[in-house]
Amino acid sequence: MLSSPVRFGILGLGVGANRARLAAKTEDAELVCVCDLQEEKAKQIAGELNCEWTTRYDDMLRREDIDVIGVFTPSGTHCDYAIKAIQAGKDVFVTKPMDISLEKCDGAIEAARDAGVILAVDFQMRYDETARKMKLALDNGRLGRLILGDLRMKWYRSQEYYEGGYPHGWRKRRETEGGSAANQGVHFIDLLQWFMGPVKTVYGRSGTFAHNIETEDLSMALITFENDAWGSIVTTTASYPRLGSSIEITGDNGSIVWKDGKIILYELKDNPEPSLDEFKLNPERPRNIIEDMVSAIKKGSKVMVDGVEGRKSVAIINAIYKSSKTGKVIELD
Ligand SMILES: NC(=O)c1ccc[n+]([C@@H]2O[C@H](COP(=O)([O-])OP(=O)(O)OC[C@H]3O[C@@H](n4cnc5c(N)ncnc54)[C@H](O)[C@@H]3O)[C@@H](O)[C@H]2O)c1
Repeated sequence: MLSSPVRFGILGLGVGANRARLAAKTEDAELVCVCDLQEEKAKQIAGELNCEWTTRYDDMLRREDIDVIGVFTPSGTHCDYAIKAIQAGKDVFVTKPMDISLEKCDGAIEAARDAGVILAVDFQMRYDETARKMKLALDNGRLGRLILGDLRMKWYRSQEYYEGGYPHGWRKRRETEGGSAANQGVHFIDLLQWFMGPVKTVYGRSGTFAHNIETEDLSMALITFENDAWGSIVTTTASYPRLGSSIEITGDNGSIVWKDGKIILYELKDNPEPSLDEFKLNPERPRNIIEDMVSAIKKGSKVMVDGVEGRKSVAIINAIYKSSKTGKVIELD
């Protein structure tokens, strides 16, 4: 096992600033450098976290004292920047969604495979204790044969949210963002496919109802899973007030309902008092993407969401958008 800390560079300091803070305080990790197009922001975060800063990504990539790059730029640029990091010989993780283009996801997966480096996607809910126990209950057949998986994400985002960010307005433009499914919904779409298994077909509608944006603020889909279960997806950023997010799963032996990070119902036909606490998690497990990358590099463990896994939610979202445009059922490969 390597004894020196794993050295991180973080690109993009909106939500990326939080991951930079995490890297700075994680055992066996060291934050070496942050990079942002906005010089003031880069200087401010570097000052706060006592690391170096730059406004030029290429300069950060040239540094030999960085092992891992974390990418937190607008969604349509993640894999472009990941590929550059991979070509510079770095391990890399990108925030969600992996990208908005499946071709770019494939390019990054192939580049990482060829270079023999780690490519990971930062889905923080995958590390959550409740979600992991729920996954174990499903994998261990507590609900019996899965029949139905429904996802509802009804959130609110203001017009100012879409006008903001940097470069300004990237969240409302189609070249850099998809919409409520790709940006916010992707967390739950990733969980749904993780819980239920691979998606086979998607029939969807997407529209823009309450914002002046090129992207969608309401998407709905009927889906079938490879295990022959059915499902549905609703994601919106036009629901005022925010009604939260839920995933309801039904099997032939019972149901489980996850709402905003908590289990609010777990009932089985064959067990009057089921509890997810029957499942014990390894206390040593990584609890976030920084710990995950450190563990993967130092101990050779598998990251929670690698490129192939991160691509799955992008494929489902792209299928919703394609189905909405064509009116056809889309089969996933
Ligand atoms: N995991 C989560 O829960 C979560 C939450 C929010 C955002 N995100 C994701 O993070 C990404 C960024 O979102 P945000 O809300 O932080 O956006 P933001 O616009 O607030 O921040 C993006 C930052 O990246 C910088 N930047 C853009 N292009 C750059 C470049 N080429 N070189 C250097 N810096 C560059 C900008 O100056 C800005 O500071 C999005 O893909 C979003 O989906 C994830």
